[in-house]
Amino acid sequence: MIKISGKKKKVRMNKQRNATAKAIRIDPDIILTVKDLTKTYIVGNSTITALNKVNLTIKKGEFIAVVGPSGSGKTTLINCLGALDFPDSGNIIYNVDAKGMGLDIMLMTNKQLKKMRLRKIGLIFQFYNLFPILTAFENVELPMVIDKKDVKFREEKVKSLLKRIGLEERMDHLPTQMSGGEQQRVTVARALVNDPLIILADEPTGELDTETTTNIMKIFLDLKNAGESILMVTHNLRIAEVADRVITLTDGEFTGKRTGGKPIEDIYN
Ligand SMILES: Nc1ncnc2c1ncn2[C@@H]1O[C@H](COP(=O)(O)OP(=O)(O)OP(=O)(O)O)[C@@H](O)[C@H]1O
Ligand SMILES: [Mg+2]
Repeated sequence: MIKISGKKKKVRMNKQRNATAKAIRIDPDIILTVKDLTKTYIVGNSTITALNKVNLTIKKGEFIAVVGPSGSGKTTLINCLGALDFPDSGNIIYNVDAKGMGLDIMLMTNKQLKKMRLRKIGLIFQFYNLFPILTAFENVELPMVIDKKDVKFREEKVKSLLKRIGLEERMDHLPTQMSGGEQQRVTVARALVNDPLIILADEPTGELDTETTTNIMKIFLDLKNAGESILMVTHNLRIAEVADRVITLTDGEFTGKRTGGKPIEDIYN
């Protein structure tokens, strides 16, 4: 069990963010609407357009895969949608109460952004990003500790999530005592712990072998069938096919879309 003590530090990421985002009515079946999202990086004398007017709508319970070559803007997209980075322009409107009350993260205060990251967005990365000194249980528990959830509630929730991903026997293991696939399953449990609106996964199987990749995809499909919304970025064109929709990103623009839904058993055939 994790305990946090000491003085609270107030960190403002962006002092410009003072105006509170006002709720707007949106279609209750849509979890996220992205409009004309543009992000450029300036390095020395060159300007890199990482995202160029990207538009996207994700419905509740939809599993979307984004594919594209290296440098096409996939991670930039995940970072912007996950409120880890800020686009230059556009809108990212989340159905925050899951009943049709939309909030644009481009207009949120730092306090609203903090809540968004903690409670509404479940992030999964290629390299797991688990704390090496915390056990599987404590890594999953951490977002709830930060969110000041009750101890008993935390314990029950972590145990049920670890059971859901088949790791209840490993709860006292440190990341170094687990395989890559097991560590990634822990990050899936961690991403789910505060019941997010959406799971954003950046190359979640990038480090895994074929069999472990299939297992992680089965977990994603179970989550989707249980009503979770998932946006997954991947280089792996085969596993992308199991998603409901596959969108191609090229040089910061969506250049193709197709229907997925291929049975998981067939992806390596
Ligand atoms: N912090 C940064 N500063 C400058 N340029 C950046 C930065 N982050 C990304 N870029 C550039 O933006 C473009 C998109 O990068 P991004 O990381 O989103 O691509 P990606 O599709 O995720 O690639 P990969 O498949 O290799 O992970 C690239 O040209 C990259 O060099
Ligand atoms: Mg990337």
